[in-house]
Amino acid sequence: MAQQSSLPLGIDVGGSGIKGAPVDLATGQLTAERLRIETPQPSTPEAVVGVIAQIVDAFADQVGPTAPIGITIPGVVMRGVVKTAANIDKGWIDCDMEKLVEDRLQRDVVVVNDADAAGVGELHYGAAKGHEGLVIMTTLGTGIGSAVIHEGRLVPNSEYGHLEIDGHNAESRAAASAKKREGLSWEQYAKRLSRYYQFLESVTWPDLFVIGGGVSKKPEKFLHLIECRTPVIAATRANEAGIIGAARMAADAQQVRGRHTA
Ligand code: BGC
Repeated sequence: MAQQSSLPLGIDVGGSGIKGAPVDLATGQLTAERLRIETPQPSTPEAVVGVIAQIVDAFADQVGPTAPIGITIPGVVMRGVVKTAANIDKGWIDCDMEKLVEDRLQRDVVVVNDADAAGVGELHYGAAKGHEGLVIMTTLGTGIGSAVIHEGRLVPNSEYGHLEIDGHNAESRAAASAKKREGLSWEQYAKRLSRYYQFLESVTWPDLFVIGGGVSKKPEKFLHLIECRTPVIAATRANEAGIIGAARMAADAQQVRGRHTA
């Protein structure tokens, strides 16, 4: 069993809330109720890093001084540098977030795209576990995030929510926020999703689609209505997947880098 003091912490930075919890990587379970703090407005790097430090402090009894921290952000992240920023302050663009947080916390930190982290969480501890070949996870929320996993390895920053389909940025029509904004019924929304997944499969040819995000808690409402060639299943770790995946990626990276190991 993992030593309590060596548990990694996963933190999910979203447009409205920043959520974190320690994760037991042997089971993929959060070892404490996740702490949620409102995202500061404006959500500048300095302000958000302050909240991250608060969350790390709150779990200091479980997350030892050398434990790694995995952080997700709703945007493209290349080697720790944020490249796009959806629903968070544009001041993040080109910010080396990994370095910023490492300098502040004096710990090993990994920063990744939110959907990529959720995909890794589902791969190891959820719906995608044991599936071979090419698995594409999409998170349906304010936007559409995507994670591409081939033979158990993540190909980062796929950004399939921004495919142009029928002249529209796909997430503007098929994200869960579009259902709410336009007052669509589940049947109407499923038609949008069918078009989206048919297009996505025509350019990627995956073995499996996994649907995550808040709607994955109600698969009985719409999953059977989606028409496409590829099998479609719902994620099983819902909103925890990002926290779990980020913690796992941080622990894996710490092992490879060999830094700060106890
Ligand atoms: C962003 C992605 C993000 C997704 C979900 C999209 O608008 O471009 O990077 O993963 O929203 O938050």
